[in-house]
Amino acid sequence: MRNRVEVLHGVNFDVLERRDPEQYGAVSLTELEVRIKRYATELGLTVTFFQSNFEGEFVEYLHRVSELADAAIVNAGAWTHYSYAIRDALEIARVPVVEVHLSDVSAREEWRRRSVFDGLVLGVVSGRGPDGYRDALEILKVELDG
Ligand code: DQA
Repeated sequence: MRNRVEVLHGVNFDVLERRDPEQYGAVSLTELEVRIKRYATELGLTVTFFQSNFEGEFVEYLHRVSELADAAIVNAGAWTHYSYAIRDALEIARVPVVEVHLSDVSAREEWRRRSVFDGLVLGVVSGRGPDGYRDALEILKVELDG
């Protein structure tokens, strides 16, 4: 059964509770992960988590992700907007990926409107807060069941 989803959080997610609550809500990463885990259980999926502030470490984890999971959710934070290294690693990963952003990146600064992951990911969910992870899991569930 293909039901394992790896959830990767990028740079600055370890201090989520200290970030702008207007954009990201007042949740900590641990609280966010508890919610994601609950959503996953409801959908019959299993989730594991990874977070790093180090781009190379994030890339190396993506190199291994197909051994660990059948699909992935990636919120790479600011790396989304400029890291071609992570884009290339996503291409190597060869698992279906949904990109998530807690905030609505299309309604913020110009530089946040561009994702270097365009064309590689199965879907993008932005501006839905923690519920966006449920949307992403639903997209992956359809993909994995199909
Ligand atoms: C973010 C949006 C990015 O622009 C920002 O750099 C983040 C978080 C989000 O979840 O809304 O770190 O990915």
